[in-house]
Amino acid sequence: MALLVKSNLQLRNALANLGDKVALVPTMGALHQGHISLIKLARSKVGEDGCVVVSDFVNPTQFNEEDDFSKYPRDIKSDFLVATTAGANILWTPGVKDIYPNSEIELIDAGYLGEVLEGKDRPGHFSGVVTVVSRLFELVMPKVAVFGQKDLQQVLVIKNFIRENKIPVNLAIAPTIREDSGVALSSRNNNLSENERDLARKIPIALAQGYDAAISGARIVDIREAVRDALTHPEIKIHYVELLNDQLETINNDHGWLLVAVSIGNTRLIDNSFIPLGIRN
Ligand code: PAF
Repeated sequence: MALLVKSNLQLRNALANLGDKVALVPTMGALHQGHISLIKLARSKVGEDGCVVVSDFVNPTQFNEEDDFSKYPRDIKSDFLVATTAGANILWTPGVKDIYPNSEIELIDAGYLGEVLEGKDRPGHFSGVVTVVSRLFELVMPKVAVFGQKDLQQVLVIKNFIRENKIPVNLAIAPTIREDSGVALSSRNNNLSENERDLARKIPIALAQGYDAAISGARIVDIREAVRDALTHPEIKIHYVELLNDQLETINNDHGWLLVAVSIGNTRLIDNSFIPLGIRN
């Protein structure tokens, strides 16, 4: 049976006696195909008799602009339908007081991993993310938590937080779901005009060119150049093209991540690809 759970008390009651059979999929709602794949991965981790909890909380501490926070889409009815159809047992929609009971919120520092790339343009964002995720872990105590590779920097920040604080949660990373065009699925894609959508197709193409260059032995500087070339267009603003390791530092003869962020019109899009072999600096 599927449950819509609101308060911490309801959550505690719903999870009583489940032991280590709980998987958590943290979300901010507005659930789409990408979230469905996270829910399915969560189910595969805890089995049919396990419990998949989808948290649905628009976290105020990770927004830089009050306006973005208040305009963030919220539709619990639709989220409940999407989550439970995908196989979740519980959609948990806590209030701000459930997550942050004290008026003074103590934020967790996300460190260097939270300051670079996306963190440069959104100061404090990853501190808000890691703070809320830590609270969700405390309240749900999942055996496994599922995040999407699409938000790679978020994954690395959380992975680091779990390791440093020895939190007994396994991370499961779900591969990026893509539209038929190859563009990574994101709720932000809805903000793109038809022309902008066409331009967005350059992102996966550029990543593929970078990948090919890496596989054929190119050096980092040339790989990045190949990606930039493929993205070059007067209507695309490139924020960064980087090739970095799990600590978001320069690669030295190691595998790594090709990370891209661009703006097309007013929409910022990110994507990434894993390069599995040693890359020459
Ligand atoms: O990826 C998201 O939707 C959010 O950053 C998360 C992990 C649910 C924390 O609010």
